[in-house]
Amino acid sequence: MGTIIDITKAENSKINSVDFDNLDFGKIFTDHMFSCEFKNGKWQTPKIMPYGPLTIDPSARVFHYGQAVFEGMKAFKDQQNDVWLFRPEDNLERINISSERLAMPAFPKDYFFEGLKALLKLDDAWIKNTEGSSLYIRPFIIATEPAISASPAAEYKFMIILSPAKAYYAGEVRVKIAENFSRASSGGVGYAKAAGNYAAQFYPTALANEEGYQQIIWTDASTHEYLEEAGTMNIFFRINDTLITAPTSDRILDGITRKSIIQLAKDNNIEVEVRPIKVGELVEAAKNGSLKEIFGSGTAAVVNPILGFKHKDFKHELPKLEDTYATMFKTKLNAIQYNTTEDPHGWRYKI
Ligand code: COI
Repeated sequence: MGTIIDITKAENSKINSVDFDNLDFGKIFTDHMFSCEFKNGKWQTPKIMPYGPLTIDPSARVFHYGQAVFEGMKAFKDQQNDVWLFRPEDNLERINISSERLAMPAFPKDYFFEGLKALLKLDDAWIKNTEGSSLYIRPFIIATEPAISASPAAEYKFMIILSPAKAYYAGEVRVKIAENFSRASSGGVGYAKAAGNYAAQFYPTALANEEGYQQIIWTDASTHEYLEEAGTMNIFFRINDTLITAPTSDRILDGITRKSIIQLAKDNNIEVEVRPIKVGELVEAAKNGSLKEIFGSGTAAVVNPILGFKHKDFKHELPKLEDTYATMFKTKLNAIQYNTTEDPHGWRYKI
């Protein structure tokens, strides 16, 4: 028997008030949301309800200690109006890994997939099959138990909200390489999609913004010599024709787009090195002309070219190439996601 979901439909849809050609990332939400509570040691009957504000006790630990994790996924609609997810089992696995690190309960697979299917069917009209359109899916879990002792909560809320999306970065992206601030340290929570990992980046990123850099490439916290991850993305470097990215660790998010790009590179006979890469090597490659590209990867951003970087007093603009790896990987990923090509690795998941 399938999972029972208690569904309350929205009386009116907001869809006609939305300008789908001019979407700011993550500001518009669909008509429904999924919610499931954890209490008395188990996940309760999942619910789908009209999208709207929550009532949560001010003492809930999410507000005090940031006991919260999240995921980022996308749904894509093909030309036959079929809807697809991309490697969703990996998102479930990762949210449960993140939860474990924050002493939160794992979410069951059947609730996750049945919830997603029911929610996406109800809000199907929000998934457009026009070029570059997708529906961003944000699952998250927050600690809701009303109690402020600094210990794991006994009650949680797992939710999924949906937001129609186009590009994540509307403009050009240049990055500053971190010299003092850090995103994550060894033994910490850098590998988890913990809410606080992102909040901790806001201040240094705001300072970088003032200097004209949209993102930071984080370096290792102890020496600041190794390139690790960009704020909302994993990061790739192309030196000559070799693609290089840092290995995942307890400081770096195990990005689903990242590992898909590594696989696509191998499939296309591109030499790919997953190894620690030093800031010095990047600066040297920039100076001697062998640095061809830098790009970020992530669910929201997909593949985003980096146009330039700054490290200490050294500033560099990347060359403008005709055929970039960034465009090639984005095209190949999109073709799989929008069901316009074969899916040799079984990454698509039909709703
Ligand atoms: C994603 O790419 O889905 C993320 O979770 C990054 C987020 C900050 C937009």
